[in-house]
Amino acid sequence: MKDQLEKLQADMLQALSKAADAKTVDALEVQALGRKGALAQLLAKIPDLQPEERAGVGTLASKVRAALTQAIIAARSRLAAVQPAQTQFDPTWPGVMPSIGHAHPVAAFVDTAVEFFTRLGYDVADGPEVETAAYNFDKLNIPADHPSRDLWDTYYVQSKGANPLLLRTHTSPVQLRYLESHKPPVYVMCPGRVYRHEATDAGHETTFTQIEGLAIDRNLHVTDLIGTLTAFLRHTFGKVKTRVRPHYYPFVEPGMDVDMSCLLCGGKGCAVCKQSGWLEMLGAGMVHPTVLRIMHVDPKKFSGFAFGMGVERLVMLKHGISDVRQFLSGDLRFLQQFHS
Ligand code: FA5
Repeated sequence: MKDQLEKLQADMLQALSKAADAKTVDALEVQALGRKGALAQLLAKIPDLQPEERAGVGTLASKVRAALTQAIIAARSRLAAVQPAQTQFDPTWPGVMPSIGHAHPVAAFVDTAVEFFTRLGYDVADGPEVETAAYNFDKLNIPADHPSRDLWDTYYVQSKGANPLLLRTHTSPVQLRYLESHKPPVYVMCPGRVYRHEATDAGHETTFTQIEGLAIDRNLHVTDLIGTLTAFLRHTFGKVKTRVRPHYYPFVEPGMDVDMSCLLCGGKGCAVCKQSGWLEMLGAGMVHPTVLRIMHVDPKKFSGFAFGMGVERLVMLKHGISDVRQFLSGDLRFLQQFHS
């Protein structure tokens, strides 16, 4: 019996030292130490032994069990150290889809507008968001003491000196900058961010987006302006009701605001349209002769129209968004709705 126990230990130790994977170790463990394994079968024979033979067999069997248990543990840790490189990549596992971003609804709207106006022959221009008071106000016929300057209360980056630096309140300064390097006829659109010192509410933000448009050519009239804007609004919203009402902007004459019937409440009146049923979408008008002269354009030869749209307001109507503050809230649940 002792010989058999020693042989079992020797054979198993050798087999375990050669085992190349965890499955082989599992099988050897069952074969040696399992309920019906080799050791259990030998122990079952102890009662048949002569009393003098029995002495020491139990102790030896315990030593063999301990030695084999130890060897099995050692074999497993040896294989665990070797195998990760082979087992880490399993090509049969289902893949994990990487999350893919999408355009912000405001950026997507600007893209659509750029496509529309470039098809009409408009160029696309950009300008600085930190602007001088001269471009944001003075050259647009808004002198320092003019009350209309209050309409565009802003954040000053550097308020001292004759020409302070500020965050631009509208995209209109880009008109002036574009005309410094281009001669009429010009057709240009300028999308970009603008900033105002506002008491925010559902329809007013301190940071929002505008799209400026400027056309200067011979014989341009108010009808060309209204036709262009109506075509754009119909392209974007389908058949919608619009209205034009006179509005004062110092850099245009005549000036007007274009309203669209509030699609959020169907024209009945809500918090966004301030219960009026109409939402102001953009300001527009025929470029003021004084501004044309500042741009070195002869008002006797050329006329022009300009407009400045509030992009967030348009996107709100397009998607039924009831609060302009959502756009910059950074709430992913809001943004993920616009995954197309
Ligand atoms: C202007 O900013 C003029 N520069 C527009 C213009 C351009 C007139 C060229 C004539 C010729 P106004 O301040 O109205 O105008 O703003 C234009 C549009 O921006 C508004 O019609 C509105 O849609 C949007 N808007 C204005 N203030 C806010 C605000 N606080 N939050 C969100 N959108 C706003």
